[in-house]
Amino acid sequence: MVRAFHDFGRFTLKQLLSEAQVQAGVRRLAAEISAHYDGRPLTIIGVLTGSVVLLADLIRLLDMPLRVGVVQARSYRGAATTPGALTINAESLPEIRDCEVLLIDDIFDTGQTLDELFAQFGRLSPRSLRSVVLLRKLGRSRVGLEPDHVGFEIPDEFVVGYGLDYRDAYRNLPYVAALEAGELVEGAGA
Ligand code: IMP
Ligand code: MG
Repeated sequence: MVRAFHDFGRFTLKQLLSEAQVQAGVRRLAAEISAHYDGRPLTIIGVLTGSVVLLADLIRLLDMPLRVGVVQARSYRGAATTPGALTINAESLPEIRDCEVLLIDDIFDTGQTLDELFAQFGRLSPRSLRSVVLLRKLGRSRVGLEPDHVGFEIPDEFVVGYGLDYRDAYRNLPYVAALEAGELVEGAGA
């Protein structure tokens, strides 16, 4: 399919969280994380691509020994707004054995992405493994895992902005908005 990031502007957006609300949420998350690790060194691993905005904002609020890595995980493909098979590419991951590891993602929806990452990372023997997400969709989880730090609980709507995309568009919005369900192309992606 054609990458459709130029769809930007074609859809009706309903603002769910303002830029100020998002920033306040990120400050809350930073305070929780700082308190939890209490100055111990942390390896923070961003789940690409949706976590990049939160990752960039959050790490600048963490005054502690920190290193950053990334992992690629995809469950939504192209235009689809329903989950597909998960693919994980951990090639650029730093060594995490005996390290305190915090996975960071944009949203906890069905939970399958974080659940699968926890299973794979667990095999690499980190000293501890926790997770932080900006958003958690209510009533969607299909796994037993709970994210450790959650910025905001949101209703079951498809959202974009602050890293989250629809067909690769809207990641750069500084706020979070829901798209009109009737305008979305369900499962049309490859
Ligand atoms: P999960 O595995 O179902 O929890 O899905 C997590 C991934 O799906 C996230 O990292 C997002 O990339 C994507 N995702 C889930 N819900 C949304 C949404 O409402 N908007 C944009 N992306 C979403
Ligand atoms: Mg994602």
